[in-house]
Amino acid sequence: MKSTSVCVIGAGGMGKKHIASLSRFGITRISCVDPDKSKLNAIKANATDISCYTNLEKIQLEDIDSFVVATPVNTRMELVKYIGSLQKPIFFEKPFALDIENAIELKEYIADASKCVVGFPRRMSKKLHLLKNAIDQLDKPYVYQSVFAQDFKKYRPDFAQTYYASNSTGGGFLNDGLSHHIDLAMFLNDAPLNNINIMHGNMNLETTEVDDFAHMSFDIGSKSRGFVSGNQFQKPNDDKVTVISAAGTFYFDRIKDTLTFQDNDTHERVISSGGENWELLLDRQIECFLQLVGHNLLDENLCTINQAIECLKIIDCKQSN
Ligand SMILES: NC(=O)c1ccc[n+]([C@@H]2O[C@H](COP(=O)([O-])OP(=O)(O)OC[C@H]3O[C@@H](n4cnc5c(N)ncnc54)[C@H](O)[C@@H]3O)[C@@H](O)[C@H]2O)c1
Repeated sequence: MKSTSVCVIGAGGMGKKHIASLSRFGITRISCVDPDKSKLNAIKANATDISCYTNLEKIQLEDIDSFVVATPVNTRMELVKYIGSLQKPIFFEKPFALDIENAIELKEYIADASKCVVGFPRRMSKKLHLLKNAIDQLDKPYVYQSVFAQDFKKYRPDFAQTYYASNSTGGGFLNDGLSHHIDLAMFLNDAPLNNINIMHGNMNLETTEVDDFAHMSFDIGSKSRGFVSGNQFQKPNDDKVTVISAAGTFYFDRIKDTLTFQDNDTHERVISSGGENWELLLDRQIECFLQLVGHNLLDENLCTINQAIECLKIIDCKQSN
């Protein structure tokens, strides 16, 4: 496995993180492609043994066993037309595509979509697996709520110069932050989300044409109801899932790294606490991808192309501004 050869396309924020994960798993044959030489120099400064290229066409494709695509979604059609017919595993950063039409067209260029997955790292949280099991055992309707908020000016001060700033490059809160929590709602509830309503708009982030907040409500199967809300200007950050049932309430807080349960006014029972940071979730995700590459094993927690397309279908339910 360690001798497998992985090509990371896109050496920006996420490309760098995936290279770090691959290195932690002892992968020594890593190549990296980015037209921006300054990004490649930054990769080289940390790992001199990574082969860097400004153009995918300079790579011998037969030497590559798998690809990690960490470029903005508007670049993917060109990339997939070039590598999609090779039938090699591809890990795509989320969201899979610009929108639903773009996703369906992209999939047509992928010869073996069963070997391709999309990165939604919350799916790798053991605490969320415990919550998923707990939801599975609820026999009465419940209310599912999740909130996600990030102070983008602080964590991505250059956002106005990145893909985030334009709808044409897949930017804005719906594709960026909300897509994580739409996927999570589908993953945790394991039932169709229907009757979707999305309120969205731009409230605070200046210099962009894109949405910076959204509230989404939906039905879960025939009994339960859900609500997902978020924005990218909030201080402090937020990343929570609450499941309210007649038997009691589960609280997952990714930032405090806790899963608790409470069925009275005073005492909170800790189900699981500590030990899971974002880096670990990214590592687990890459570890699962390497299992797919090396052993053709699709971990049930990885997001498939079809599931990622379902996520884009939900985003597509937004009402026009
Ligand atoms: N999983 C997460 O939590 C998470 C977080 C942030 C971003 N993302 C996703 O990751 C993707 C990239 O985001 P980012 O924050 O790393 O962006 P970024 O702007 O930091 O990096 C993107 C890189 O892609 C390069 N690039 C552009 N076109 C290219 C091409 N044709 N070939 C090779 N490289 C090319 C750019 O030069 C840039 O270095 C987006 O789809 C985004 O939605 C995921």
